[in-house]
Amino acid sequence: MYLEVKGLKKKYGNSSNTVQVLKGIELSVQKGQMCVIQGTSGSGKSTLLNCIGGLETIDEGSVKVSGKEIFGLSPSALSDYRRDNLGFIFQFYNLVPNLTVRENIKVCEYLTSSPLDIDELIKTLGLTEHQNKFPSQLSGGQQQRCAIARALIKNPKLLLCDEPTGALDSATSRDILILLEEINAKYGTTMLIVTHNNSIKDMVHKVVFVKDGLVVKQYENKTRVPAAELEDL
Ligand SMILES: Nc1ncnc2c1ncn2[C@@H]1O[C@H](COP(=O)(O)OP(=O)(O)O)[C@@H](O)[C@H]1O
Ligand SMILES: [Mg+2]
Repeated sequence: MYLEVKGLKKKYGNSSNTVQVLKGIELSVQKGQMCVIQGTSGSGKSTLLNCIGGLETIDEGSVKVSGKEIFGLSPSALSDYRRDNLGFIFQFYNLVPNLTVRENIKVCEYLTSSPLDIDELIKTLGLTEHQNKFPSQLSGGQQQRCAIARALIKNPKLLLCDEPTGALDSATSRDILILLEEINAKYGTTMLIVTHNNSIKDMVHKVVFVKDGLVVKQYENKTRVPAAELEDL
């Protein structure tokens, strides 16, 4: 199993005012799988993704990525873990505003000794003619494609996506999902896609439903619907 989460607990707050957000999450994802984590707003999806991604500390339990335990790592070991394994995509892109598209991607090229070919990646993402523009000169979909290129340039083993289509219209969402599908097929990237949309789950290998900080259901799709054919995006 590539990703294995067991008994994961996480609370926020102090002794007088605590919110137990994750109450003992159990989930597993195989190498090369695309996995949707679906749940309503406030169910703990982002917190879960951030714990797996080493952006939040874990209170109790175990998160193993490729056999390596994340729980209890020091901040610098967590930083190494993120650099060596992960790519992140967020709902609101988080691009550096005063860098061009190409420069935003370039910044992350230096994080690895074996990056993907930047020109090929820019082409794959349909950004060739936009590569010298600044984020403010791009549409939302183009900005998200830039954010995806930035996450992918170091060819991460695990791509963590938090509501990647949350700010996009239906047609643009579809383009982004088709792209993620192509990247999964081309590079075998394992992906966790957090969403509250009810359609995206049909295109992935594995589906995990989160409710009130617990996994209430998980299953593997026997047949997948290509992103191009998804309804109600
Ligand atoms: N940094 C934080 N401090 C306090 N409470 C938080 C923090 N982050 C999230 N929460 C709370 O944890 C719960 C789950 O949040 P979140 O993981 O963002 O859910 P989702 O992504 O499913 O909408 C919510 O009640 C939210 O208010
Ligand atoms: Mg969230």
